[in-house]
Amino acid sequence: MNMKRLLIGTAFVSLLAFKSDNTEDDFIRNNYSFATQQIKNMLKETVHQKPLTFPRTIDAGGKMVSTSMYDWTPGFFPGSLWYSYEFTKDQSLAAAALNWTEKLEPLKDFTKHHDLGFMMYCSYGNAYRLTGKAEYKDILVQSARSLSTRFNPVTGSIKSWNGFKSWHGNKIYPFPVIIDNMMNLELLFFASKVTGDTAFRHVAVSHALTAMKNQIRPDYSSYHVVCYDTTNGKVAARETAQGYADNSTWARGQAWGIYGFTMVYRETKDARFLKTAMGMADWFLDNKNLPEDKVPYWDFNANEAGYTPGINSYANKVTDKPRDASAAAITASALFELSRYAGAKEEKYKQAAIKMLHSLASPAYRAPVGSNGNFLLMHSVGSIPHHTEIDVPLVYADYYFIEALQRYEDQLKK
Ligand code: GLY
Repeated sequence: MNMKRLLIGTAFVSLLAFKSDNTEDDFIRNNYSFATQQIKNMLKETVHQKPLTFPRTIDAGGKMVSTSMYDWTPGFFPGSLWYSYEFTKDQSLAAAALNWTEKLEPLKDFTKHHDLGFMMYCSYGNAYRLTGKAEYKDILVQSARSLSTRFNPVTGSIKSWNGFKSWHGNKIYPFPVIIDNMMNLELLFFASKVTGDTAFRHVAVSHALTAMKNQIRPDYSSYHVVCYDTTNGKVAARETAQGYADNSTWARGQAWGIYGFTMVYRETKDARFLKTAMGMADWFLDNKNLPEDKVPYWDFNANEAGYTPGINSYANKVTDKPRDASAAAITASALFELSRYAGAKEEKYKQAAIKMLHSLASPAYRAPVGSNGNFLLMHSVGSIPHHTEIDVPLVYADYYFIEALQRYEDQLKK
């Protein structure tokens, strides 16, 4: 080929790449702008809610439902406000983010369940990242201390809930650990880095190693709940709380695992965690039951032969298979990060994340402006076994959708 043709060809390819990046930039801007409009509308709606409650979903009439700050989700609305401020630099959003974050300060001493990572790292973690205020760091460190009180050296794990009642009858397990708990470890790694106290890190790594051993199946699918015997640290039961059956794979549980193990690899550089994150991601993406748009059904094995819900689970009564947009949003965000560590699988994970984001941003999942109680995404599932929040918007689906957009933008800039 002569030099002139080669140069023209190269220029054409660069132009195409430039054009496609531009299109994707527009995609991100369009979604940021949509998110900001909805979030600003939601802020106006919150004045009608009870004080110290936080947006979570909508009721059957489409009105916003808020939950107590002691539930597991209060950090997500402040977190979304911080992300919205970050991409708009709109000071009114910073003021709102500050206001909603600071309501959560009393939680720094909360020890009644394991979700302090979600509650505080999504709110105060973003606040500290964007403002650098020392008092936020102190609140995060105190929160990490509170979370650490739930660690038991015999089980090597943080206790998720104070008890788990099996769907099979009346048995209550006193030391349940759920796969979601992987997400709370980020707060501990943060506390270890800013204080130099390796005890936090020790708790996080021990929990992650134990989960890797007991919560992840040999094919890299996941159990939702592993219950431990605290007298000897042995596994007493492996069941589900929010999934279809004990032996099935709850879609959001798998998503928490992909995100959690990716984050633990980032913090430790221990190859075992990367292998687990990639195994879980491959299981999710290569699954025959993953729909073409890559937004999973609420459980990968819902209504499949060989999987039976416990007798008391409402999953017995649900014959359709709702999607869970929250699981796709969490996974998309995780895959953007995982792709950076994945070597030969970088493109596989990145392209899957982009596909998920485009599906979520399509009219099939993204709500029209001014609708959906001002939440961004439709079609998530809280818990079918508990007969709650089925095919609704959820505040955490929105949070991880925005985070995934930001991670996508970061990758495009590189
Ligand atoms: N961590 C609770 C849930 O994912 O529903």
